[in-house]
Amino acid sequence: MSFRFHSSSEEETLYLGRVLGRALLPGTTVLLFGELGTGKTALVRGVGEALGATRVRSPSFTLVNEYRTQGLTLLHADLYRLESGEVETLGLDEESEEPHVLFVEWPDRWNSPPQDALKIFIEADGEASRVLEAVSQGVNADSTLRNWIAELKREVGGRNDTP
Ligand SMILES: Nc1ncnc2c1ncn2[C@@H]1O[C@H](COP(=O)(O)OP(=O)(O)OP(=O)(O)O)[C@@H](O)[C@H]1O
Ligand SMILES: [Mg+2]
Repeated sequence: MSFRFHSSSEEETLYLGRVLGRALLPGTTVLLFGELGTGKTALVRGVGEALGATRVRSPSFTLVNEYRTQGLTLLHADLYRLESGEVETLGLDEESEEPHVLFVEWPDRWNSPPQDALKIFIEADGEASRVLEAVSQGVNADSTLRNWIAELKREVGGRNDTP
């Protein structure tokens, strides 16, 4: 399934991330496509806030950052500096005992990403305006996207956490 979100500020992207953070099913992989500075890291920072990881930083030098939060580990990778073929050495698709979610920036470097994945294509549409096209494939990703949309609709009704 697919769904299109809009953001008109960094704060709104953080908000979308916070709502996604509450909607995530353990085991979900999220692949973030989009040019430099479109807000991929901003979205993950919002996810981190929802999970209790308050200081999500770009993993552009560390390649993978791991945040152990209560109940769910957040893995955040940035493959920008890698060649295809080097990605496998990171072990991103290794089985893990702990429930975790994986967010990947620049996933086009990854030859064999998981089949079950939520792809989010972010495009700048003016200075602070962004279009986020979310496309899910697989059971986990479908449920996560469905939850994300449902949570947003609930929020609009309740207005608890809007930016
Ligand atoms: N609607 C928006 N959503 C997110 N960020 C926005 C928005 N409008 C402007 N910005 C700005 O765009 C930049 C996004 O930076 P961010 O590091 O999240 O991008 P990125 O996609 O992760 O880039 P990179 O590929 O370099 O890692 C920030 O400087 C932020 O303030
Ligand atoms: Mg980034």
